[in-house]
Amino acid sequence: MVEENRELRGNYRLMVVKSPEVAGAARPGQFVHVRCGSGTVPLLRRPISIHRVWPGEGRVGLLYEVKGRGTAWMAGRKPGETLDILGPLGNGFRLAAGERRLVLVAGGVGIAPLFFLAEAARRGGRQVRVLLGGRNREMILAEDDLRQMGIPVEVTTDDGSYGHHGLVTGLLAEVLEREEVDRVCACGPQPMLVAVTRLSVLHEVPCYVSLEEHMACGVGACRGCVVGIRDAFGNISYRNVCTHGPVFEAREVVFDGA
Ligand SMILES: Cc1cc2nc3c(=O)[nH]c(=O)nc-3n(C[C@H](O)[C@H](O)[C@H](O)COP(=O)(O)OP(=O)(O)OC[C@H]3O[C@@H](n4cnc5c(N)ncnc54)[C@H](O)[C@@H]3O)c2cc1C
Ligand code: FES
Repeated sequence: MVEENRELRGNYRLMVVKSPEVAGAARPGQFVHVRCGSGTVPLLRRPISIHRVWPGEGRVGLLYEVKGRGTAWMAGRKPGETLDILGPLGNGFRLAAGERRLVLVAGGVGIAPLFFLAEAARRGGRQVRVLLGGRNREMILAEDDLRQMGIPVEVTTDDGSYGHHGLVTGLLAEVLEREEVDRVCACGPQPMLVAVTRLSVLHEVPCYVSLEEHMACGVGACRGCVVGIRDAFGNISYRNVCTHGPVFEAREVVFDGA
């Protein structure tokens, strides 16, 4: 059931749903598949990352951008209405015990899954730092909530309207130059993920990327979401983003055009 559904800024919204099953089982990096309508249009569910959970209260937060028909339908839902969600789906971030110092790199609404990761990692005693990037100030999301949790946040905007002027990957390059980092985790537009991957490989820091491919079934049946994965010998195989991912080791991903 929808408990809250409010505009944060511009096209970005936060929906809180009551779902004890999802809240109890969710791990950072997983997503839910949302049925966006009561009839057959749109036919396909829409994948939305699990942004926050309040397990004790059985509540789940979804941070989403209104882009098209499905997310516009979500934006119209009122508290008290029922929402049909499948999940938690996919494989999330799997951090090794020794990965203590994390840098999370978010492009715009890419902060959605990383927020849940930041909260869980922080609770688990890891050092977390978040780099938030966006084209402009409107795209910088969840900054206050992260700071309230005591998580250091640095912000960049492409147009310089807020925070540092430039790309978030410029900030990441500086951090990797001057600090010891055990793991980078990133979610955002593909050019950002490609740049984050290059920097992580250059500095020999393991990196996870969370991919946001277009999806259909969401459960591994249609092969509509495959991504190329390169093994240590250079052989490429294809994996479903919905079931094997959406989180992958960055250096293994064959990005479009690469
Ligand atoms: C695992 C996963 C997790 C995601 N988590 C979130 C999240 O937490 N918050 C959020 O806002 N979005 C998230 N997305 C993207 C979200 O699923 C799409 O924006 C949404 O499905 C668009 O549906 P729509 O009907 O509103 O738009 P449509 O009418 O389907 O499309 C509108 C426009 O958005 C583009 N678009 C559609 N799907 C995607 C996509 N997957 N990636 C990029 N562009 C797309 C289309 O090409 C089109 O230009 C996630 C995607 C995946 C695969
Ligand atoms: S969306 Fe159908 S296999 Fe991934």
